[in-house]
Amino acid sequence: MNENPYVSVAIDGPAGAGKSTIAKRVAADLGYLYVDTGAIYRTVGYHMSLMGIGPKDKDGIERCIDDVNIRIEHQPDGVQHMILNGQDVTDLIRTPEISMMASGVSAQPCVRAYLLDMQRELAGNHNVVMDGRDIGTVVLPHAQVKVYLTASAEIRARRRWKELTEKGENIRFEDVYTDVVKRDEQDMNRKIAPLKCAADAEVLDCSYLTVEQVVAEMKAIIRRKTGR
Ligand code: DC
Repeated sequence: MNENPYVSVAIDGPAGAGKSTIAKRVAADLGYLYVDTGAIYRTVGYHMSLMGIGPKDKDGIERCIDDVNIRIEHQPDGVQHMILNGQDVTDLIRTPEISMMASGVSAQPCVRAYLLDMQRELAGNHNVVMDGRDIGTVVLPHAQVKVYLTASAEIRARRRWKELTEKGENIRFEDVYTDVVKRDEQDMNRKIAPLKCAADAEVLDCSYLTVEQVVAEMKAIIRRKTGR
């Protein structure tokens, strides 16, 4: 039973499906809090990389996880700022290296346990649109709305490449594609909380849809499920 008086919208799906873009827009339109959980894993990944700890170094990660002090600041413009031990790392966590680090460290049980409470607490105190990999399956299994947002790997990699290139990164499409496929593989096959579609989620394939169309479809699903 869901005793949470707030509405939770869970959006899961593979890398680069556009979850953040859509979740941010839907949250702004509905006046809900947008929570990008990938950014939290990225922040942990960034910390481990600063400490020189590799993504598979279980002992090292366990040793350091208690030193990770993360604060999430939601600014009025909808941007979710990530503050790691007092430093704003929002822009520093968006590199391909940190994407892979985040995917690696997110397979460690101590990291997932550490972040679970933080995510549940946010959903316990706000109406949220939360995006990630295990929101509908593990973090918020009672979410009123669950959507699995996906697109072909080629299209997702193309979007991510465009995004990085527009930010001035000099990166080859082939490398972005390889990273996307590798990350999906890791995220779907890890032992705990792997990426998968919740049994009660609606699948939305946005390969050939515009952002406007996906936002409209998401809002229609939310209306249907919550009456709001
Ligand atoms: O959504 P993203 O690309 O920013 O996520 C980065 C990595 O974090 C992703 O490859 C896997 C991990 N992650 C996770 O394991 N669970 C989540 N709920 C969100 C992200």
